Amino acid sequence: MRLEPARGVTLLDQTALPHEERWLALRDVAGICEAIRMLRVRGAPLLGLAGAAALAIAASTRGTSNAELEAAADEIIATRPTAVDLATVTRKALAAALAEGEEQRAGVLWAFAGAFAAQRAAEDRAIGEHGAALIAPGSAVLTHCNAGGLATAGIGTALGVVRVAFEQGRLARCYATETRPLLQGARLTMWELTRAGIPATLLPDTAAASLIASGRVAYVVTGADRIAANGDAANKVGTYGLAAVAARHGVPFVIAAPLTTFDPACADGGGIPIEFRAAEEVGGFGDARWAPPGGEAYNPAFDVTPAELIAAFVTERGVLRPPFEASITKALAQR
Ligand code: MRU
Repeated sequence: MRLEPARGVTLLDQTALPHEERWLALRDVAGICEAIRMLRVRGAPLLGLAGAAALAIAASTRGTSNAELEAAADEIIATRPTAVDLATVTRKALAAALAEGEEQRAGVLWAFAGAFAAQRAAEDRAIGEHGAALIAPGSAVLTHCNAGGLATAGIGTALGVVRVAFEQGRLARCYATETRPLLQGARLTMWELTRAGIPATLLPDTAAASLIASGRVAYVVTGADRIAANGDAANKVGTYGLAAVAARHGVPFVIAAPLTTFDPACADGGGIPIEFRAAEEVGGFGDARWAPPGGEAYNPAFDVTPAELIAAFVTERGVLRPPFEASITKALAQR
């Protein structure tokens, strides 16, 4: 995402990938909110940056009074409920702006967004280094959805681990699930992996259990959208199933995420709001339709993996191990 202070942002429309690299110039709050809802911009850490940028756009286009900025923050946060980074970072940006006089607020918000983008890049690199140290040389990793640079404004979280492990000669291969129904794995993760020259294999979601059972995968590594205080973690729907199968076969299931993705206000996974999306996303893709029109569909965008199935969280501050209540509390005290 390119920030253009006082004007707006330019971002890569992820719904057009991998066939087209379409850049969108967004100049108002409605435009960036639409881009978030439609997953043109997506992934928990990048949604944090999108939230901060959207508030800066609100200050530049709508006004900088307390009421105007608070209303804009509510509107931005309401676009997607599960990824906590969107709310955490938008609220932090709002607090920074409200601490200044109205004249200074637009400048403060653009500076906040710029600093956050730089911080994200550094955090991803740190996550990648900490995570790669866990990967035994010659290992293959399985990932789900897209937790790459497209989702973070850096090198990625789960894919940051994959990238650094590859740079260090530890990684043999990355397996990527296609990630039904919106195909973030097939369209986005495979796009990133092939551009980076990392050996990559795409699989249907339904083949993941037998792949893990075959012993070809040494680790399952994903990102997360919100991690509760006890370590229960929401991520793209299907993650829970992967973690359960990984546990069944003794394969460590690891989550790579920055500390902005931890939500101490959620005691456990039961408090994490799960976004449900339209039935049309399950019954077809783009212009292609394969389910009869008008039918119902069960379409949660995320699921919650219980903490007991998670071997470790890789953060920018290092690796958190069970018991997670203690290790998460300690890490967040340094945030
Ligand atoms: O619906 P999406 O594509 O925004 O879901 C994204 C995910 O589930 C990612 O795995 C998560 O945000 C981590 S991104 C580093």
